[in-house]
Amino acid sequence: MPRLLVTGGCSLAGTVKISGAKNSAVAIIPAALLTEAPVRIENLPEIDDIQVLVDILTYLGVRVVWETPSTLFIDASKLTKWQAPYDLVKKLRASYYLLGALLGRFQKAEVPVPGGCDLGPRPIDQHIKGFVSLGAKVDTEHGIVKLEADRLVGAEVYLDVVSVGATINIMLAAVRAEGRTVIENAAKEPEIVDVANFLNAMGAKIRGAGTDVIRITGVKELGPVNHCVIPDRIEAGTYMIAAAAAQGNVLLTDVIPKHLDPIIAKLREMNITVDVQDDQLRVIGVEQPQAVDIKTFPYPGFPTDMQSLAMVLLTQAEGSSIITENVFEGRFKHVDELKRMGARIKVEGRTAIVDGRTLLTGAPVRATDLRAGAAFIIAGLIAQGETIISDIGHIYRGYERVCEKLTALGAKIVEIE
Ligand code: UD1
Repeated sequence: MPRLLVTGGCSLAGTVKISGAKNSAVAIIPAALLTEAPVRIENLPEIDDIQVLVDILTYLGVRVVWETPSTLFIDASKLTKWQAPYDLVKKLRASYYLLGALLGRFQKAEVPVPGGCDLGPRPIDQHIKGFVSLGAKVDTEHGIVKLEADRLVGAEVYLDVVSVGATINIMLAAVRAEGRTVIENAAKEPEIVDVANFLNAMGAKIRGAGTDVIRITGVKELGPVNHCVIPDRIEAGTYMIAAAAAQGNVLLTDVIPKHLDPIIAKLREMNITVDVQDDQLRVIGVEQPQAVDIKTFPYPGFPTDMQSLAMVLLTQAEGSSIITENVFEGRFKHVDELKRMGARIKVEGRTAIVDGRTLLTGAPVRATDLRAGAAFIIAGLIAQGETIISDIGHIYRGYERVCEKLTALGAKIVEIE
């Protein structure tokens, strides 16, 4: 696997176009299996997770054609298999959406327990609870989750934890079920609204997506659809933090600023300038940002996916900051690597205390997960000397042409063997 060589000390300036949202796209592609009619999805990010999903669909017998690098045509009329292959499924966590989609289409599904980023325990009990409520029997044998229902019947599901994956998966299983499903304590992420809009455009009846109660009235079949994926708020947040950390001046285009509210608010609290205009925003860094405390929460709280990235910025702040990770209990694996670059961070349970005004120095680091990988790139950009990042497969899973986009902004980042 190649590695990334980042040379520190460059400021960032210019314009970066934000790609389609990974977390929408990885749900919308499986959702396309719910219809026999043609589906066209635009603004897909060119990332490895999407290619893996396309490979899974091809394996299942679905006709998949790339019309442009970001537009996918899907014809699942000849879909006959409901068993997903382990070798592909293990590569991304979102393959759990095949459970809901195949169950909705065939009333059965066999999908190996999914892989993805190691953020500590990531159970799928709430997904399963939803499927069982709709009438599915569940067996896990040899690492494969097997679902089967005589018929799927709408039900009330109260989620014990606010889960993006469970909310979407239950929606997928319920859109063609008989009668009405109500998901209470649902997650409210913009990606959930995007998936609901996609399904509704196919003829589904989903109301309330984006609130904590989602009502779904089952329909017998779904029709064709053309859909454009929303912008990736986490990719946008990544470039915002990069611009702020490198004391740059960067314009982000193709964003939905409303989705970025929690990130914009935190950056402004740090005295970093964020100017919002329609679907663009400009971030202008300062020499000494103000220390702030951050608590991650489900949307509209501060996203857990931005936690490691924000941590890098806080190493440069005036004063100490406290980060509390409320979503994933094992999401501080990047801390040891950052410490090797000179960061002074103390972790106690779900809390990290980050000292500001730290001189970071380049070091070899390992991308412990997708967002941590991006955090190390930003750390490398502001560090003295060279940083070499290994295990960059994680980064390519979720960031489209990251070296190209950063180089265009003035960064020194290259792939090396
Ligand atoms: C999604 C995102 C991920 C993001 C996360 C939280 C995708 C593909 N991934 O992951 O980038 O970090 O939301 O915003 O969209 N939980 C349970 N039981 C379940 C399901 C979840 O206990 O059945 C717990 C998890 O362990 C975690 C919390 O609920 O502590 C939130 O997880 P969830 O929202 O489900 O995350 P994902 O959908 O896996």
